[in-house]
Amino acid sequence: MNDILLQEKILCLDLKKQLQQIKEEVFSAFESVYDNAAFSGGPFVEDFEKSFASFCQTNYAVGVNNGTSALHLAMLALGIGQGDEVIIPANTFIATAWGVTYSGATPVFVDCTNDTWQIDINCIKEKITSKTKAIIGVHLYGQPCDIDALKAICEQHKLYFVEDAAQSQGAQYKGTPVGGFGEIACFSFYPGKNLGACGEAGGITTNSEVFYKRFLNLRNHGSIVRYYHDELGFNMRMGGLEAASLNVKLKYLSAWNDRRREIAGRYQNNINNTKIKMQSQPDWAHSIYHLFVITTDNRDELVDYLNERKIAAGLHYPVPCHLQKAYGSLKYKIGDCPNSEYLSNHCLSIPMYAELTDDEVNYIIDVINAY
Ligand SMILES: Cc1ncc(COP(=O)(O)O)c(C=O)c1O
Repeated sequence: MNDILLQEKILCLDLKKQLQQIKEEVFSAFESVYDNAAFSGGPFVEDFEKSFASFCQTNYAVGVNNGTSALHLAMLALGIGQGDEVIIPANTFIATAWGVTYSGATPVFVDCTNDTWQIDINCIKEKITSKTKAIIGVHLYGQPCDIDALKAICEQHKLYFVEDAAQSQGAQYKGTPVGGFGEIACFSFYPGKNLGACGEAGGITTNSEVFYKRFLNLRNHGSIVRYYHDELGFNMRMGGLEAASLNVKLKYLSAWNDRRREIAGRYQNNINNTKIKMQSQPDWAHSIYHLFVITTDNRDELVDYLNERKIAAGLHYPVPCHLQKAYGSLKYKIGDCPNSEYLSNHCLSIPMYAELTDDEVNYIIDVINAY
């Protein structure tokens, strides 16, 4: 075994290492925001919106206060509300469902496959009713879901297709960046995301001018002209400091994503312990590995084993959405989404961030192989 002397535990995500590298640049951007008193919306947000739209190859990007708001506004812009149903994977972060529920509609949870761990296309059709209005495809752990298959179902049943791209800034599906495949795509810039703000932030991309204008209105108290309110709106603006930090970080994102792919490749090629299973990577998917999730029979034992060897592990996610207490009223039960349930009981995430050193990656591989 590679016996690097570990001074400190290897975290699942060590954000401080990234932040230290770009501290001067970010602080100088903060100073500009401060000097211009541009704290809420304003030129730094507009700069970021232009750059991010170009990064995603979409006509428009709109900055908002977090990814959950992005999903909420996406539902409102599509006219989704009370009495409607929206199909989403059971295996995702709960916020995919929040956006649907906040709009007044009902999330309908669908199981994941047992290899990609993405929504199972074969389970969707039986969940479509006359109330179904949209499918939200989640690019989970940074891997694009099967967009063409989902869009084909949407076209056949006249449903909207929305991307939850919260975990996948820069991921590509068949060579094209995520963000422009559906009517609307929603991003999170929570600090721990691949592109994370220094603060809370989120974004929406779209190719539709109609939706774009609606988002500008909705996020700003339903108002374009100050103190004239055209519709019920929200305060969901992006902050200037957050936007300034995102402007700096966006320049580094492709290099950081490349490094994540390199680390993922090392894990995939060198972890050969038969007790471990990894997320399968379809040909169409150019993942940016927001998380590196594995499964094993005795998850808790492996987590303890790694911790004892100074390697942290995360759980993404320990309870699938359909079994969360918050959705108890929907009356799902154990057995409804067996693959998602299996995953929640057997998954763990091993360290994944661009600043991991090769020695650390090799150490993690050796420790896992010796398990
Ligand atoms: C899949 C998914 N959807 C939505 C969100 C919500 O984003 P936020 O935390 O910025 O509200 C997140 C992130 O937390 C996420 O991982």
